Amino acid sequence: MANKSSASSGGALPFFIGFIAMLFVGWWVFPQALFSAMEQPIRFSHKVHAEDQGMACEDCHFFNEDGSYNGIPATAKCAECHSDVLGEDPDEKKFVEEYVSKEKEVPWVAYQDQPDNVFFSHAAHQKQECTSCHPDMAGNDTPPTVFVNKLTGYTQLDHKMLNDTGTMKMYRCERCHALNGQSNACYVCHR
Ligand code: HEC
Ligand code: HEC
Ligand code: HEC
Ligand code: HEC
Ligand code: HEC
Repeated sequence: MANKSSASSGGALPFFIGFIAMLFVGWWVFPQALFSAMEQPIRFSHKVHAEDQGMACEDCHFFNEDGSYNGIPATAKCAECHSDVLGEDPDEKKFVEEYVSKEKEVPWVAYQDQPDNVFFSHAAHQKQECTSCHPDMAGNDTPPTVFVNKLTGYTQLDHKMLNDTGTMKMYRCERCHALNGQSNACYVCHR
């Protein structure tokens, strides 16, 4: 009897340690290894431009004449003000010298890239607030870190696997469509 019970507890403890170790690997090590963190090439401040300078979101994020969304503005747009260095900020100096003077585009990273098989258009979503899909950028002084999934190449704002706000996962699209009486037939988004 005594032998049996010590044998079974000797079996349970290593199992338990291994189990905890696997949880650690699954919840912490694996996500860390799966994503690589990236910073935007220039520390662009939404707070300085939108709040302090009073620029409207549509000054930079607008629809082109063909209806496509312009997304992140081109360097030429910024050069309307930054043809020369305006202030003391080192990132502004870097931006003017490396991009404006050389007429180069900044390789900005989008936070919530969609896979190629997903059709998304801002034009259909003009009645929704930016913040129902994006983080609140208006008062943001430093662009958030972007996490790039090393397997798929897709980006998100957080490397936690179960994060609701940093990603534009299928269930988030579908939840809002359901609440608004929109069809969730596969072909609506996968074309
Ligand atoms: C309407 C004019 C205007 C436009 C357009 C504009 N900026 Fe600025 N920007 C400013 C002013 C004013 C400052 C503050 C300068 C200072 O006092 O250092 C500034 C500051 C900056 C800085 C310093 C860090 C920071 O953000 O506070 C960077 C970098 C910068 N701008 C990049 C950009 C980029 C990139 C664009 C285009 C996407 C852009 N700006 C468009 C006026 C403008
Ligand atoms: C002077 C130009 C400028 C203005 C004005 C501006 N933005 Fe931006 N926006 C940028 C640039 C440059 C980026 C890319 C760098 C970054 O993420 O900060 C960006 C990125 C974003 C993104 C991230 C998109 C993604 O997923 O990759 C959102 C959301 C956004 N802006 C919303 C807003 C809102 C809301 C306003 C008005 C309150 C606003 N912006 C005003 C230039 C601007
Ligand atoms: C219904 C959800 C939704 C709303 C509302 C929304 N966006 Fe987006 N936005 C997205 C998605 C999804 C992407 C990624 C698109 C892609 O990868 O094709 C994106 C991408 C962007 C980008 C990156 C540009 C690019 O294409 O590289 C900017 C900038 C942006 N959005 C700004 C805004 C602004 C400003 C508003 C409010 C006026 C807004 N968005 C409203 C879902 C939304
Ligand atoms: C915050 C709510 C909301 C979210 C989140 C949202 N949508 Fe929508 N979407 C709508 C509404 C409302 C409509 C109907 C717009 C209309 O008919 O005026 C719509 C319409 C569409 C359409 C139909 C456009 C057309 O041409 O008929 C597509 C495609 C679409 N959404 C894709 C997406 C994708 C992909 C995502 C996630 C990346 C997404 N949506 C996230 C609210 C949302
Ligand atoms: C409202 C928009 C929407 C609808 C409706 C929708 N999807 Fe998606 N789907 C997405 C988005 C956004 C992604 C990418 C983000 C993700 O992986 O969650 C995606 C990803 C997927 C993927 C993974 C593909 C990849 O490249 O990672 C599969 C498989 C898929 N959807 C199947 C379906 C099927 C089957 C249906 C119908 C029952 C459906 N979807 C309906 C928006 C939608």
